[in-house]
Amino acid sequence: MGKKTNIQLMVDGRRIDGRLPEQLREIEMKIGEIENADGSARVRFGNTEALVAVYGPRSLFPKFLQESDMAILRVVYSMAPFSVDERKNPAPDRRSIEISKVTKDALSGAVFLEEFPRTVIDVYEYIIQADGSTRVTAINAASLALASAGIPMKDLVAACSVGKIGDVLIVDLCGKEDNYSESDMAVAMMPSKGLITLLQMDGRLTKEEVLQLLKKAEENCKKIYEMQKKALLEKFKVVGED
Ligand code: CDP
Repeated sequence: MGKKTNIQLMVDGRRIDGRLPEQLREIEMKIGEIENADGSARVRFGNTEALVAVYGPRSLFPKFLQESDMAILRVVYSMAPFSVDERKNPAPDRRSIEISKVTKDALSGAVFLEEFPRTVIDVYEYIIQADGSTRVTAINAASLALASAGIPMKDLVAACSVGKIGDVLIVDLCGKEDNYSESDMAVAMMPSKGLITLLQMDGRLTKEEVLQLLKKAEENCKKIYEMQKKALLEKFKVVGED
């Protein structure tokens, strides 16, 4: 289904926030700000910001929920009431339930769940500012939070959004672009394994455009992946090491 396109999103090759089509927003990654959590991370893409806390692995009760040969990953995505212009009701709605499910699926394959039978790993994703692409921002933060909790991982998961304004392909959609562009795609990857773990699309694209956007998503996920590794190295650098 097409999206509403009644506002001008591109003027003289620049987007509404002044960016070029393939320019990411300013990205910030902070690790370990929530002392009480086993792992945590805060990731900001422009005015979209996700704070994620990880607890576990810890025993799972009631026992009938346990898996005898692996841990269960439980992911809750929610938007703070103050994260958007109009107050967001904090109760889970259909959208947040769906995003919780797809982000869980995007992350599960990266975690060695089989090392922690009968336990649960809780991932709480909280959007504190929303300006487009919140699910991918939350996935980037969740991946860092899991790694910072010391949970063994096969790879980090890096994610970004891509889309189309008119016939121009763009990366990292802000809120207005998310809502009014012709099309947007959310992509998450395990870059060193070349695996896609999330792929969602809204709007209309030709098959060629889908393939071109996937390529752009992969290039940008790799850039984000490098930033994630740098953030982890800075946080966990051994004292005395250069
Ligand atoms: O955020 P994401 O792109 O993953 O998901 P979306 O459902 O496509 O939402 C697009 C954008 O709409 C969000 O990033 C917010 O900026 C905005 N939004 C909002 O203002 N109020 C909501 N209740 C939900 C989304």
